[in-house]
Amino acid sequence: MSVSSFTPANGAPLIQLDAATKSFTPRGGQTFHALRGISLSVPAGDFLAVLGKSGSGKSTLLNLIAGLDRPTSGEVYAAGAELSRLSENKLALWRGRNLGVVFQFFQLLPTLTVSENILLAMDFVGKIAAPRRRARAHDLLEMVGLADQAAKLPSALSGGQQQRAAIARALANDPPIVLADEPTGNLDSETAGAVVELFHRLIDQGKTLLIVTHDENLARRAHRVIQLKDGAIVADERKAASRA
Ligand SMILES: Nc1ncnc2c1ncn2[C@@H]1O[C@H](COP(=O)(O)OP(=O)(O)OP(=O)(O)O)[C@@H](O)[C@H]1O
Ligand SMILES: [Mg+2]
Repeated sequence: MSVSSFTPANGAPLIQLDAATKSFTPRGGQTFHALRGISLSVPAGDFLAVLGKSGSGKSTLLNLIAGLDRPTSGEVYAAGAELSRLSENKLALWRGRNLGVVFQFFQLLPTLTVSENILLAMDFVGKIAAPRRRARAHDLLEMVGLADQAAKLPSALSGGQQQRAAIARALANDPPIVLADEPTGNLDSETAGAVVELFHRLIDQGKTLLIVTHDENLARRAHRVIQLKDGAIVADERKAASRA
């Protein structure tokens, strides 16, 4: 595998789901349909906000696109791969090269400092040349306003600082796709505003963003808003002012 990240052919979607479903069956229990036939096509450079009530399937959808979970039926393509065809090892590398993921809950590795968390992401993928990694980690932390926290363990940071560190880590390998699950959920309004600006800069750089959010300031900036209800897409609206 080459170390470069995927560039789609002109006009081809960067993310595509075809009738993807996800069901959970607890041992001895009834099957729960978390996603019911999701079809979605996301061109490169798009900025999608995913809305929906708690339990509507937002995180489940992100997990499928990130290859962290496999669909029960249907297909998921992202950054040039049909995810079900990749082994776990290949999937981890594919993810490292192509995806920045900001999780809803799980964040940083607790035994590594903030900057080590970011360096580890770069070391694992090998996309950023080794001599450039330290400076890049510093630049990313500076961008999220955490340069002075680099040597601390995550547990010594506030929730909002950890969230920003997780955003810096998600960008470590300069991924073409950024997936984020409530990235401003733990932030005060000022820091949330800075994160919204940061995401906007990513769009200007040509990144593709798919963000689950309740934050109206963030959703307002999106090019396209999809609404999930009970595991189905019930609205998919592209804004008139879209730059995509
Ligand atoms: N591993 C799992 N096992 C069983 N059920 C699950 C599992 N993961 C998710 N679910 C169920 O699937 C549904 C969708 O969950 P999901 O986490 O995608 O919701 P969400 O839209 O992200 O909600 P929130 O806004 O609260 O984060 C929920 O009813 C949840 O209980
Ligand atoms: Mg969720």
